[in-house]
Amino acid sequence: MAMLIGIAFYLPFLIFGAFPYNTKTNTNPNELSQLTEDIDSIDFYAMNEFLPSSPEEIQKEIDAFESWEGGKCRFCHAVKSDDRDRMAPTLYGIFGRPAGVENNYTYSDALINMKDNGLIWTPETLDAFISDPSNYIPDNRMRVQGIKDSETRKLIVNYLMRESKPNIGE
Ligand code: HEC
Repeated sequence: MAMLIGIAFYLPFLIFGAFPYNTKTNTNPNELSQLTEDIDSIDFYAMNEFLPSSPEEIQKEIDAFESWEGGKCRFCHAVKSDDRDRMAPTLYGIFGRPAGVENNYTYSDALINMKDNGLIWTPETLDAFISDPSNYIPDNRMRVQGIKDSETRKLIVNYLMRESKPNIGE
């Protein structure tokens, strides 16, 4: 029985590269402000204003982010501050954030190294990452095939621009 429970916990790791029910603090506020020192004045979410806003376009973004034919991102990632934690780090407030700093998730060494090398998530770096995750960050644990279609990647980036904007003060 204990073994069965053990396997039940280990399975998600094998399949998705993630542990369920993780609570962990990865970065304290001091380290975070040091890491973002150079870009503190940039409001990445200001781009929001320039996103196309027709209902059709918004639906296309949702499909790109959520659907099985699209990026499947939703399957593993939370986006809003009050989303339940999923098996991967949340993407809430992702733009302008260093790689590998979100709490309640145990990152791979690969992601931690990228943090130490100064990788910041921007529309450009995120696009590059999802176009070929294992090439952009070798040995990372996001088991996702690259999204080759640049239009789909753009829709995903726009979705995150719109949906992951942090609430003031958080
Ligand atoms: C099968 C589950 C899964 C899917 C689907 C998935 N991810 Fe991930 N993602 C992960 C895991 C696990 C990590 C952490 C990787 C590590 O620690 O090496 C991660 C990490 C990330 C990171 C870095 C987060 C940070 O805090 O540095 C970003 C950005 C990201 N994913 C975006 C996306 C986007 C956009 C999509 C959709 C195209 C997507 N992911 C689809 C599991 C997934």
